[in-house]
Amino acid sequence: MIEKINQLSKLAHEAIEKASSTDALYEVKVKYLGKQGLLSTVLKDLGKLSPDERKTVGLHANNAKAELEEQIDTKTKSLKTLEQNQKLQSEKIDVSLPGLAPKPGSIHPINKVMNEMCSIFSRLGFSVRTGPHIENAFYNFDALNIPADHPSRDLQDTFYVDDGIDHEPGKFSPWVLRTHTSPVQTRTMLTEKPPLRIISPGGVYRSDSDTSHSPHFHQIEGLLIDKNVSLSDLKGVLGFFAKEFFGSDIKVRLRPSYFPFVEPGAELDASCPLCKGKGCSMCKHTGWIELAGCGMVHPEVFKAVGIEYPTWNGFAFGMGIERMAVVKYGVSHIGLFSENDLRFLENFKI
Ligand code: PHE
Repeated sequence: MIEKINQLSKLAHEAIEKASSTDALYEVKVKYLGKQGLLSTVLKDLGKLSPDERKTVGLHANNAKAELEEQIDTKTKSLKTLEQNQKLQSEKIDVSLPGLAPKPGSIHPINKVMNEMCSIFSRLGFSVRTGPHIENAFYNFDALNIPADHPSRDLQDTFYVDDGIDHEPGKFSPWVLRTHTSPVQTRTMLTEKPPLRIISPGGVYRSDSDTSHSPHFHQIEGLLIDKNVSLSDLKGVLGFFAKEFFGSDIKVRLRPSYFPFVEPGAELDASCPLCKGKGCSMCKHTGWIELAGCGMVHPEVFKAVGIEYPTWNGFAFGMGIERMAVVKYGVSHIGLFSENDLRFLENFKI
């Protein structure tokens, strides 16, 4: 039996020597020293020996076990250190490498232009009002003297949200995505008393899209109601705005035009800020660019909102914010503003 124990110890010592990981070492331990291990199996027959032999063999077996356990402990310690070092090596981080700079966000060019426009008008005493994007046709069309058969009511231009039939019996007043910011004029005149001096920036929707039109764009509306307001006041306000926004060398002119809610109606042109009026592709070689639709508030509008005319009168204007940004920054097409391509947006960082 002693012979067998010696044989097994020899094999076990060799196996411990060979084990190259803590896991492998554990397996060796179980194989030789475990409850069902090889040494225990040999010692099962210990009971069959004489008491003297049992003592000698038992002592010998215990010594052999103790030696093996000690060898395993020492080896476990050295393997653990080795494995830990390997792990540290593989997870090494080079703290001296330069870090990745976080990309800070920036204000979108449309918001930037919108804020700038609002701040210019606020210096002239205009304050901001807002209105809903889903708007009733009453505010978007009727109260603005846009007759029921006006082409801008056609499905091509207007996104209808519903047909309006069930809202008020006998009254057809559908909900639409507002096609301009002018309904905020109507809402303000219905809820506030003149004198009024308001601007209203925000999104508007029209069902047309090509390289120069997007179905969703932004406008800024202006409305001034007071006593004895004249067309030259309008030209003065918009001229001040154009000079502040584009530069002091900008000239403006009013060109007769038609909008149902103003009379007389006009288009405000500014001398092209890019070519300084000489003619370029931005101004289609005319030297002038259209900036705003505007005019004196129509008596029918005052009637619809219950403001006494001509005791009170006033002017209104509406400008496209994308258009302002295109002209100011020489952007090639308005689609760039909604694509959110960082290579484009990063040009507008403050
Ligand atoms: N609402 C008009 C448009 O969208 C612009 C406008 C506003 C014209 C106010 C005159 C007065 O084109």
